[in-house]
Amino acid sequence: LRLFLDTADRAAWTRWLPTGLFHGVTTNPTILERGGVRCSVDAIAGVVQEVLRFPVQEVQAQCWGTRTEALVDTGRQLAAIDPRVVVKVPVTEDGIRAVARFHALGIRTTMTAVYAAHQAITAAAAGADYVAPYYGRINDGGRDAAAVIRTMTAILRTAGGRTRLLVASLRSAEDLAALAAEGCDTFTFSPAVAEALFSDGQTAAAALAFEEAAAR
Ligand code: E4P
Repeated sequence: LRLFLDTADRAAWTRWLPTGLFHGVTTNPTILERGGVRCSVDAIAGVVQEVLRFPVQEVQAQCWGTRTEALVDTGRQLAAIDPRVVVKVPVTEDGIRAVARFHALGIRTTMTAVYAAHQAITAAAAGADYVAPYYGRINDGGRDAAAVIRTMTAILRTAGGRTRLLVASLRSAEDLAALAAEGCDTFTFSPAVAEALFSDGQTAAAALAFEEAAAR
């Protein structure tokens, strides 16, 4: 099982990463902006250094640029920050070309902004390490995200299992549990979903009753 925290919020890193449950942190330019971090190699290097102080094994950072060359250029700079950086790339035509180049260079990648099952084919063929379907956003668009993810899982199995399905855009702990029950084992989610994963009203009441009994 691999869990990632999808945030550039320092308070959330401090709150959740010391639990030791997270394989890493995922970011993209939107997440950096929300966390008040500029999308530059230097600023991302700062994020990577901070995150790697916690017990995690990967930091995912997204390259930028509309054409393949620019994506490869920014991605190479991100990968040079630390061997534990995985470069995220949107699954556009230029992005897919960039991932094939990163694969040849031995740079690990995640193909992101994935909305359709067939995108798992190009991601796997390009040699991506992860492919990240946007579960919540696919449902928002009126399609059955669980069905899309089932098809992707079968595609990736056919492709040889090297590319890992990293389910993103999760909105609840219930979604996560349902997907895990169907065989998904890699997820990225917000601090709000982390909060929900760690809490249950009935568990809290039961734990309180134990403490009260222990004190009597
Ligand atoms: C992943 O790269 C995205 O940050 C994320 O999972 C999107 O989530 P949202 O649809 O809740 O914004």
